[in-house]
Amino acid sequence: MNEGRVVVVGSYNHDFTWYCLRFPAIGETLAAEVFTAGHGGKGSNQAVACARQGASTCLIAAIGSDATGDAAVVMARDEQIDARWQVLQDVATGSACVLVDSLGQNQIVVHAGANSRLDAAHVRTQSDAFELARVTLMQFETAMPPLRTALELAKSNGALCIINPAPAREDADPKLVGACDLLIPNETECLMMLRQAGCIAPPKRLADIQDADLANLTAKLAAPSVAVTLGEHGVFVAHRDGPRLHDMSRYYRLSAPTVRVIDTTGAGDVFCGSLAATIAMRPEDSLSEVARLALHCAAHSTERPGAGFSAPTRRQVFQRFPGLMQGSGST
Ligand code: RIB
Repeated sequence: MNEGRVVVVGSYNHDFTWYCLRFPAIGETLAAEVFTAGHGGKGSNQAVACARQGASTCLIAAIGSDATGDAAVVMARDEQIDARWQVLQDVATGSACVLVDSLGQNQIVVHAGANSRLDAAHVRTQSDAFELARVTLMQFETAMPPLRTALELAKSNGALCIINPAPAREDADPKLVGACDLLIPNETECLMMLRQAGCIAPPKRLADIQDADLANLTAKLAAPSVAVTLGEHGVFVAHRDGPRLHDMSRYYRLSAPTVRVIDTTGAGDVFCGSLAATIAMRPEDSLSEVARLALHCAAHSTERPGAGFSAPTRRQVFQRFPGLMQGSGST
């Protein structure tokens, strides 16, 4: 374990995944090719990705007092995650129904369960975790008050705050976004946040917009730096007020490596977790170097089934993409 410490505040879900040749139509019953049950939830997935990159990782999340909650406790121990669970007696652990088609695309329905009851008081009692953190990473799969507390604690301890505003939510707290250092939305989340900021929807896909125009668009979001994940089109990074986080350019695009996609579930989580880990372990690296490594981790994860458990270790990602070795924290 490296000294770089990341605190992830977020969700745990137990994922029930059906791999089908295609998605069913409304009213249709379809036979699945494969069924699996395993660990998921954006917070947990990101914590696993982070720990597998070698960062000392703390996860603050809520679970129910049930079999899938017990499985989460064992998983965190096995992954060497310092989990600070809020265990609730009267609500089930979060769960997700995941459908994956033969192109690796997914459709997900989540029952938040305990995640919706993660409370600010529980986060506050974990203040020692924030004292050691270089990076705090959160998503929008829990209630908002614990995230506000986490952001306060992270800021008062000088940690870099990253928000992955997933899933896209109408009730997201704009103050949270304004206070973070780096926002990592996907295209859907970015479009929703732009709409909430009063912008007219762009006429084409974000991946098809010229860099300078896309930088002007993301500057409408409250965060000083934005990294928009664009799936197979890679990631677009823009800094609103000029280069920061050791970058030399105000905006740039990084392309994703070509991979054999099996399952894209949790690829965004792997990107966020790997990125947070690398910033914490190598704070002198530029965001562009860190994001390049995280993109390769995310791409590699799509070659394996499952969400949280598809995250590669640092060794695995360098083995898969030997060209990454140069200047990407291979030591
Ligand atoms: O991002 C993928 C995750 O979204 C799944 O693991 C599922 O639990 C939902 O939270």
